[in-house]
Amino acid sequence: MDQPTETLTNAQGRDENHAAELSVILPTFNEAANVPLVLDLLRKTLVGVRWEAIIVDDNSPDGTTDVGRAIAATDAQVRVIRRIGRRGLSGACIEGMLASSAPYVAVMDADLQHDETLLPKMLAELRTGDYDLAVASRKVEGGAVGEGLSKVRAWGSNIANGLAQKLLNVSLTDPMSGFFMVRREKAEELAPKLSAQGFKILLDLVSSAGGTLRIKELPFTFKERLHGESKLDTLVTLDYFGLLMAKYFGNVVSVRFLMFGLVGASGLFVHLLALKLFLDMAGLEFNLAQTGASFVAMTSNFFLNNQLTYRDRRLTGLKVLIGLLTFYAVCSVGVLANVGVANLIYSDPTYWWFAGAAGAIMGAVWNYAASSALTWRKS
Ligand code: GDD
Ligand code: MN
Repeated sequence: MDQPTETLTNAQGRDENHAAELSVILPTFNEAANVPLVLDLLRKTLVGVRWEAIIVDDNSPDGTTDVGRAIAATDAQVRVIRRIGRRGLSGACIEGMLASSAPYVAVMDADLQHDETLLPKMLAELRTGDYDLAVASRKVEGGAVGEGLSKVRAWGSNIANGLAQKLLNVSLTDPMSGFFMVRREKAEELAPKLSAQGFKILLDLVSSAGGTLRIKELPFTFKERLHGESKLDTLVTLDYFGLLMAKYFGNVVSVRFLMFGLVGASGLFVHLLALKLFLDMAGLEFNLAQTGASFVAMTSNFFLNNQLTYRDRRLTGLKVLIGLLTFYAVCSVGVLANVGVANLIYSDPTYWWFAGAAGAIMGAVWNYAASSALTWRKS
């Protein structure tokens, strides 16, 4: 009898030879020019591996989705997830990983800054069974920041690494790296703990695992971007610190709430500054000055929250005005909640600070809950 050396389907009729062993997640935002190039590079470097690419595009205005779809239409190795009404690198990576059924998933930038020739090496490390996670690190011997990072960013990146190591006990040489490969079962297990906001999916994975991942670091050089532009801005850096804090405080509070709280704290300074100006320069009487300062602080909080806390649901155009008005309304009730709770507790004057803090926290919780439901409601 003829014994074929390689059968396409096994006894149960399953096509195991076509199922991917490795899914490469390519998060994209405005990478239309890069997508065909990065796929070509993957084809070249992953010869002999059963792989697939999952492009996760946040409805890029430059038509990245269409470019991906056109390729996927004739190439079963390529899939596209189009997300609408959502933005964010970490969230895109998580969704991509969860769309895979392969034993290994890699996350790689689609802008050609990551050296794809590392993928076979990462896969080899994971296949040994000795590691759960392979990280492409820009810091271990042989690796370099290369031409891809400006001086300022390299400096900021060092500080961020140091903090991650101190606060989260994450012993990675490059916890900010956006290039890694992980056993899918691990990603699947950790996914419910991950924050969809921000850029720091790797740091999030490792710190959420609490030291249980066996990690292999591989050196690489971060390359310069050829097409399109970076989406990492100062706001993303703030997000990073938010993630650090949230993880440090053991995930009791969300990154968003922390950010909201920080903005609120900044509002106090704005309030006092405005009050001083209204009293001294404009010579207003106290009640009027205090009311005016409250509006200035609320307005400043609104715009900061719109830029930072809710950047993924940012209001634009006419919606800014409506949002601002609902935010005023929410905050006015917040003041009542604040004073009400403080009053309830303030029966014993020795604990004035406790009453005051409880009131402020109550107000913040109300403002947060109500404004996320009304002002920045999910569309
Ligand atoms: N789906 C989706 N949604 N993809 C996004 C988004 C988003 O909101 N923002 C960025 N991306 C995609 C980009 O299209 C690119 O493929 C990849 O994520 C990296 O984005 P860049 O904007 O090019 O980031 P970078 O080069 O500045 O930052 C790189 O270095 C950082 C460390 O300094 C990335 O590798 C980061 O992950 C890394 O932390
Ligand atoms: Mn980049």
